[in-house]
Amino acid sequence: MAGMFGLVAASGAWADPDGAGIYMDLCASCHGEARLGGIGPALIPEALGRLRGESLSGIIANGRVATQMPAFATTLSAEEVEAVAAYVSSPLAHIPDWGVAEIEASRVMTENYLPVQKPVFEADLMNITLVVETGDHHVSVLNGDTFEVLDRFATPFAVHGGPKFSPDGRYVFVMSRDGWVQKYDIWALKEVGRIRAGVNSRNIAMSEDGRWLAVANYLPHTLTILSTEDLHVASVREIVAQDGQSSRVSAVYQAPQRRSFILALKDAPEIWEIGTSDDAGPFADAKTGEEKGVFARRRIVVDEPLDDFFFTPDYGKLIGASRAGDRGVVVDLDAGKEIAELPLPGMPHLGSGISWQRAGHDVMATPHLKEGKLSVIDTKDWSIVKVIETLGPGFFLRSHENSKYVWADVFFGPNKDKMHVIDKETLEIVKTLDPAPGKTVAHIEFTKTGKYALVSIWEDDGAVIVYDAETLEEVKRLPMRKPSGKYNVWNKITFSDGTSH
Ligand code: HEC
Repeated sequence: MAGMFGLVAASGAWADPDGAGIYMDLCASCHGEARLGGIGPALIPEALGRLRGESLSGIIANGRVATQMPAFATTLSAEEVEAVAAYVSSPLAHIPDWGVAEIEASRVMTENYLPVQKPVFEADLMNITLVVETGDHHVSVLNGDTFEVLDRFATPFAVHGGPKFSPDGRYVFVMSRDGWVQKYDIWALKEVGRIRAGVNSRNIAMSEDGRWLAVANYLPHTLTILSTEDLHVASVREIVAQDGQSSRVSAVYQAPQRRSFILALKDAPEIWEIGTSDDAGPFADAKTGEEKGVFARRRIVVDEPLDDFFFTPDYGKLIGASRAGDRGVVVDLDAGKEIAELPLPGMPHLGSGISWQRAGHDVMATPHLKEGKLSVIDTKDWSIVKVIETLGPGFFLRSHENSKYVWADVFFGPNKDKMHVIDKETLEIVKTLDPAPGKTVAHIEFTKTGKYALVSIWEDDGAVIVYDAETLEEVKRLPMRKPSGKYNVWNKITFSDGTSH
């Protein structure tokens, strides 16, 4: 191999190293000829955009410790590393076919899996809490009363978006950046199977009746709907706007009271609602005529593409962020139109928004990704109740119906090790925790009754810290590999007040 590159370099006219050729020789066996993944993950710009600061050429030169990703620093010159890095960063020449046939062909069911009659452990099944550990691509299954780890299972590479529980809390579905959806049986503590629903995907949502799982894809421009029962493909819908523009799906949400999925389209000024019941619709559509029944689609036309939705608890209205990130747009889902605008400067992270009742008013709060502020909004008249100054921009907010506090992280900036605890009535910061100086401290989840708050030290040698949610004292620290998110069965399946969805 080295000889071949030597020859190419010596020929002069071909002095620039050939990234595509190096890729085919050294990388394709693990990352796939089409760069869509294999033993290793997909190497396409849509996926590599999420490396978060890690240098691409650094990974290629040094490999990844304790994984199958080798170091190429001795095989390739610095220029060759740059060339192959540039090649994997370039867009794919054409959007790959990933329709029903390709998706079905990827489906792998666990051979020795058998459903069990009762759980293989003793614990309050409604207080099970999952911890997604992105450091080494595992999920820990915690007993929410004792904090014992019941199982720790391997996930597909790079879990993205929150896992989704079946309505009875028995199964959980986990999705990866490369579009793999994994079904896991909590009673049996075993994987049921997995299927690749997209090439590059954003998140998943469960239908209200638990029958369907929707997968929002960036690549290709589709929404995949799977049967939760056996992971078969129920529908692959191309995302094409009224004017013919094809669009990525930024996210899909479950709207339980509406018995529908709501889709945020990245590249088109439309919001889609897809019915999940047999009596959905009829929805009139200028292009496709009338749509009725399960998976019937309704278009809601808005002024510009909206992203990152917050829903009022009745799912009658949503707030989406404008592309410029300077305002929130309120859309009435029944009327199917925009009804208000809010000034929300500094990139509101509405998807992390939470709501509660304050002095007889329904309020919601949202962090901002670019400013050290939390906006508290009255969701009746859409007025700003208060802007709370924080020590830096935050990513996640969380509360619980039995807690008088909202917990807010300071994910970005020099104070990323701080965690604010805010009184839900006075909207004042009552305490700022500093449990791991210098480390990123982020994301909060409560146990079922709200007795404990679980906070992540978001580092490769990180931990989940268990706090008494009343006294704010630390109770326990569980070592974890970059615990990015925590999900309590009860809080998620009941759409607990204070949880973002
Ligand atoms: C023997 C298999 C194998 C070969 C050969 C290989 N890789 Fe990898 N690569 C992997 C695995 C496995 C991972 C995931 C490592 C982890 O868990 O972080 C990976 C990860 C990566 C990542 C990080 C991706 C991400 O999203 O985090 C990059 C970039 C990468 N490889 C580039 C390359 C390039 C370029 C080549 C060829 C010069 C190459 N790899 C050859 C197996 C391989």
